[in-house]
Amino acid sequence: MKLIYHIQGGDFSAAGGASSEVKKTLKQFNISPFVLRKIAVALYEAEMNVVVHAWHGIMRVDIRPDRVSVVIEDKGPGIADIPRAMEEGFSTATDEVRQMGFGAGMGLPNIRKNSDEMVLTSTPGVGTRLALTISF
Ligand SMILES: Nc1ncnc2c1ncn2[C@@H]1O[C@H](COP(=O)(O)OP(=O)(O)O)[C@@H](O)[C@H]1O
Ligand SMILES: [Mg+2]
Repeated sequence: MKLIYHIQGGDFSAAGGASSEVKKTLKQFNISPFVLRKIAVALYEAEMNVVVHAWHGIMRVDIRPDRVSVVIEDKGPGIADIPRAMEEGFSTATDEVRQMGFGAGMGLPNIRKNSDEMVLTSTPGVGTRLALTISF
């Protein structure tokens, strides 16, 4: 089963919509609450990174009998230093974004913790691609 969602950068009112739709869909399957939570956390953080840091993104979800694979690709400023971005607490979020409760710098570390596979690639000035897989 394949699902596709568009994610609009800067649209905080719609933020989290795609990841919650995926969670809703997966709930129909026989997936443990533990795994479901891992997926929800990872996808929410990935979606929020597009909303907070990029201009526009697409989330592609591929649900298989044994796993879910997700690719989130965006057009945006990209990430110049990926190892630095992966550090706990590192964030380039603006004060405005922080006042809304985002920008703790824990998104990418939490995506890594909750995924079985994670590949983050980026071209500065062009965009970012995050691929992750979580086994059921
Ligand atoms: N999709 C993205 N596009 C551009 N930069 C990103 C993206 N995702 C993450 N980053 C960069 O990596 C940093 C760390 O991300 P993250 O751990 O999610 O923390 P936060 O989103 O709270 O800043 C961000 O502050 C930003 O500089
Ligand atoms: Mg984040």
